[in-house]
Amino acid sequence: MTEPVSLSFASFDAEALAQAEGRIALLVEAEGRLGAEARRIDALTRKAVSRLLASPGWAKAKVGEATLLSFPAGLTAEGLVVVKVPKKPTEAEARKAGGAIARMRGKGPLTVVAGTFARPEDLAMAIGLRAYDFAEHKTAPREEGGHVTVLVADPEAVRSRAAPFEAVASGVVLARDLVSEPANVLTTTEFARRLEALRETGLEVEVLEEEELERQGMRLLLAVGQGSESPSKVVVMRWNGGGEEKPFALVGKGVVFDTGGISMKPAAGMEDMTMDMGGAAVVAGVMQTLALRRAHANVVGLVGLVENMPSGNATRPGDVVRSMKGDTVEIINTDAEGRLVLADLLWYAQERFQPTGIINLATLTGAIIVALGHENAGVFSNDEALADALLAAARTEGESAWRMPMGEAYDAMLKSRIADMKNVGGRDGGSITAAQFIKRFIKDGTPWCHIDIAGVASVKSDTTLAPKGATGWGVMALNRLIADRYEAKA
Ligand code: BES
Ligand code: MN
Ligand code: ZN
Repeated sequence: MTEPVSLSFASFDAEALAQAEGRIALLVEAEGRLGAEARRIDALTRKAVSRLLASPGWAKAKVGEATLLSFPAGLTAEGLVVVKVPKKPTEAEARKAGGAIARMRGKGPLTVVAGTFARPEDLAMAIGLRAYDFAEHKTAPREEGGHVTVLVADPEAVRSRAAPFEAVASGVVLARDLVSEPANVLTTTEFARRLEALRETGLEVEVLEEEELERQGMRLLLAVGQGSESPSKVVVMRWNGGGEEKPFALVGKGVVFDTGGISMKPAAGMEDMTMDMGGAAVVAGVMQTLALRRAHANVVGLVGLVENMPSGNATRPGDVVRSMKGDTVEIINTDAEGRLVLADLLWYAQERFQPTGIINLATLTGAIIVALGHENAGVFSNDEALADALLAAARTEGESAWRMPMGEAYDAMLKSRIADMKNVGGRDGGSITAAQFIKRFIKDGTPWCHIDIAGVASVKSDTTLAPKGATGWGVMALNRLIADRYEAKA
């Protein structure tokens, strides 16, 4: 488990700041007027700050950008990071500034002079998230980043507001850790064990084993896992912080490794399929966040944990399997396995919990990467209000998402000669036919969104709030959606 960056809030003390080791970060409003603390630092550094502000480089710098002044005169610190911030920052702007500071934080301690900056909690959370480092499997002793101290006008007040932000950050870190783990470590059994450990937060956690899944008739899900030595599992996590109302459901694809099965993937890049449980990781992260911040909502999280392997016992292309719902599926391509897992899992979720709405997350298709690259998750929905709320929550949190179309003509591409449907619709519109397949397992009248996170769950270059690798995309957006849409009354 990756430890969060150690971070505290304190009040400004000019003497102490002059002696501070490591680096100091100073927030300066885009309009360029220096606050009282900044003026003190300007005086200590013999006008280094005001000279920077008068430079053409500063004029050109965008909001959220940082400049490093090395070995500033008058300070013990070896670097002064000056960050341009807007006067009234949005969440996303405050986090962008935090991300920029984290990138320039150096190896020692960091002191952030935030003064009267309006969103110090967002800033601190962003520093923590951007400094994430998955070092679990590095033998060399870990290079610890130093302690981060954020200097604010009223540390007591900020501290008491910071708790829910810490809950969010820890959910994101959990999701990233799960996505980062290789598949020989994060087997279905180990995944379930880690979710059971969340009981400590107050979540109810239940693990359904193969025998029970068979009894429930989840044959599509089992068909995906039957070629693997690792047993297939479904884990149900419940947070009951609301009243008597039915829960909202979050459902995640948890393919711990996707070889493609008998329809095997090519070798190049196959190692990336260790992240094919990204949907399940986000569901786990959100559930942990809800529990840690004692959310006033009823939410159930379900994940389908399977491994897609070829073997003498694996599902063959052309096999016909009956779903829990009762419809038969011709499995044309064993590499289109995520939708099979989700079909049974979604049906189970609806039968058992009658949720007020459902969001499922899955690293479902390569085609969504062709369509949207690594910048946006793809959102498919049968409900305008839920989709709009989700997109708004994602926008606020700086997690980009884009609505994708659905329709009957796409659905018709799933017609099978010998069964009720086939599991692939051909190359064209591949993400949409995948969504249409899933939609067949959503009951009429249940608001539902499917989020295809194949392009955003793990990325090959740094982003604002994450180093390259696992992003935890969606934990923040879904936590916000639940807070805004299901807790607003509480
Ligand atoms: N897990 C993959 C999708 C994926 C691709 C996730 C790249 C992350 C990065 C999924 O199970 C898959 O293999 N989809 C196939 C579907 C096809 C066989 C219809 C694909 O996208 O090629
Ligand atoms: Mn696949
Ligand atoms: Zn997959």
